[in-house]
Amino acid sequence: MSVLNLSSIHLLLLFSSLSGVDGYFGHFEMRCRFSSEEPRDIEFLLQVYGNKKLLGQYNSTTEKCTVYTQWMKNFTETACKGPAFLAARRDEIKKYCSSNVPVVYGYLLDKAVEPYVRLRSVEPFSTRHLAMLVCSAYDFYPKPIRVTWLRDGQEVTSNVTSTEELVNGDWTYQIHSHLEYTPTPGERIACMVEHFSLTEPKLYDWDPSMPGPEKNKMVIGACGLLLGVVFIAAGLIYYRKKSTEGRVLVPTMALPEIYGTI
Ligand SMILES: *[C@@H]1O[C@H](CO)[C@@H](O)[C@H](O)[C@H]1NC(C)=O
Ligand SMILES: *[C@@H]1O[C@H](CO)[C@@H](O)[C@H](O)[C@H]1NC(C)=O
Ligand SMILES: *[C@@H]1O[C@H](CO)[C@@H](O)[C@H](O)[C@H]1NC(C)=O
Repeated sequence: MSVLNLSSIHLLLLFSSLSGVDGYFGHFEMRCRFSSEEPRDIEFLLQVYGNKKLLGQYNSTTEKCTVYTQWMKNFTETACKGPAFLAARRDEIKKYCSSNVPVVYGYLLDKAVEPYVRLRSVEPFSTRHLAMLVCSAYDFYPKPIRVTWLRDGQEVTSNVTSTEELVNGDWTYQIHSHLEYTPTPGERIACMVEHFSLTEPKLYDWDPSMPGPEKNKMVIGACGLLLGVVFIAAGLIYYRKKSTEGRVLVPTMALPEIYGTI
């Protein structure tokens, strides 16, 4: 089971009242949020929106309503109470969630693709930090994912930046999370990935002996130098071959041309 509330089924009930220029648009949403197909891992929400703003909601986990505007206060104090109200919500959970979630879950599980994760060191964004790591997760499905950093087992939240889940063009996604830090000896840095395709969070430990950007530059420099030497050597060999061949070729090639012009 994943710790993420990965998926939800939405059911919309729309109503609107338009008066003059300022219309009022309201809608109800029923949501089944789930992290497994087990009934205890399904949360049902009945939400009331006014002009797309959430005004209040019923939450099946607490079996209580919460309101976000004074205007909705009467809703909790009167409507959102009593055995009849709760019984109606329990019926809705059965009707909309319990019957659909296993089907959707099975479908998602069938399609889930585990991310391919790469952890590497790059040039920091700013000079405030000495090092920066990038944890990239590639080619995963479905979209929801959590990529976090652990320093000696503790989650690090500051100096972390992440991209959105980027669309690959097919139906898969990729994401990149950056951690800027100042390395201290003996510390353990890891990137943690949580995804629907994984039964539990997966840890990727950073190995400081892996090539960093400086070492990369040296490697690239050395390769460049080697390539240069190879090219010069090849050039020299070619030149020498050409000049020895040239001595043989010049007279035989030149003769017919001379004849042609005469
Ligand atoms: C519903 O209530 C539970 C328990 O308090 C809470 O963990 C969960 O986040 C709530 N859901 C929403 C969408 O607020
Ligand atoms: C809430 O209900 C009370 C009594 O039913 C009513 O007097 C009051 O105007 C209502 N408040 C709002 C904001 O609708
Ligand atoms: C984030 O970076 C700043 C600047 O270097 C540093 O002062 C701060 O301690 C860092 N935060 C953490 C949690 O490492």
